[in-house]
Amino acid sequence: MKVIAIANHKGGVGKTTTAVNLAASLAEKGNEVLVIDFDPQGNATSHLGFSPNDFETTINDVLIDPSNRVDINSVIIEHSTPGLFLIPANLSMSRADLSMSALIEKDHRLRKSIKRLRKNFDFVLIDCPPSLATLSVNAFFAADDVIIVVQTQPMALDAIRMIDETLFEVYSSRPDFPIVPYGLPTMHDKLTTVSSTVLEAINRKFHPNVFSPIHSNVKIREASGYGKHIVEYDPLCAGAMDYRRLAKEVMAIYEREKEEGRRYIIRNS
Ligand SMILES: Nc1ncnc2c1ncn2[C@@H]1O[C@H](COP(=O)(O)OP(=O)(O)OP(=O)(O)O)[C@@H](O)[C@H]1O
Ligand SMILES: [Mg+2]
Repeated sequence: MKVIAIANHKGGVGKTTTAVNLAASLAEKGNEVLVIDFDPQGNATSHLGFSPNDFETTINDVLIDPSNRVDINSVIIEHSTPGLFLIPANLSMSRADLSMSALIEKDHRLRKSIKRLRKNFDFVLIDCPPSLATLSVNAFFAADDVIIVVQTQPMALDAIRMIDETLFEVYSSRPDFPIVPYGLPTMHDKLTTVSSTVLEAINRKFHPNVFSPIHSNVKIREASGYGKHIVEYDPLCAGAMDYRRLAKEVMAIYEREKEEGRRYIIRNS
């Protein structure tokens, strides 16, 4: 099982879109995939066609219960797409950072809960909120790898330094298993020079851990509004092709890891 956090504390860059559509594309290729909505906005929950407020128990209850009585397995819901599962979130999570602050090992709550999953998923994708507070730190401690989603827009790389610093703090306390951060350029518009210049900068920054870009695509935007992932909304559109290619690239990393062992790359720049 590979646990991947999808993060950037900059808002609106395509984290949720990536969590949902990468999950659907991995499921399409025969994987069992769990999306953990880890954002009080509940956007991954609604993007997958559910209404966040319909859920009385969410990942929040698992996190903040000091006696660990709320079982993570009890909050998993099944999507109509074969192989696709979700742990929902809603606004009840807004105070999770505060509620967890009094708990022992507050940064490790998610990691420990994931260890209790009974089903052996191939991939667990965590849709992080746009912040670097306790929730994202929990996701980083739980993750094998982190995908940093970067929109190919001016100033996009300015935010990365702070993620680097946070990840480095996480590495420092678990040097036995450092996270490898991967860059994913999103909403790329290849017709504009500025987008191409930023893409080059992202490639330089993350080299060699950078995925092919997800292009700006109107179908991707429409699909989220309709509560559908892109494979069910328009499986042949360019956006669906981009996410399929990403799923292939993600799977290739772990296939290579099985053969050659894990690559340990630590960046702090
Ligand atoms: N490749 C794309 N092409 C066109 N629109 C996109 C694309 N990716 C994302 N969007 C749109 O951009 C908006 C923001 O995307 P998304 O919600 O995934 O960002 P986010 O990083 O999760 O935001 P937040 O920080 O609020 O959680 C959404 O309306 C989404 O539909
Ligand atoms: Mg989001």
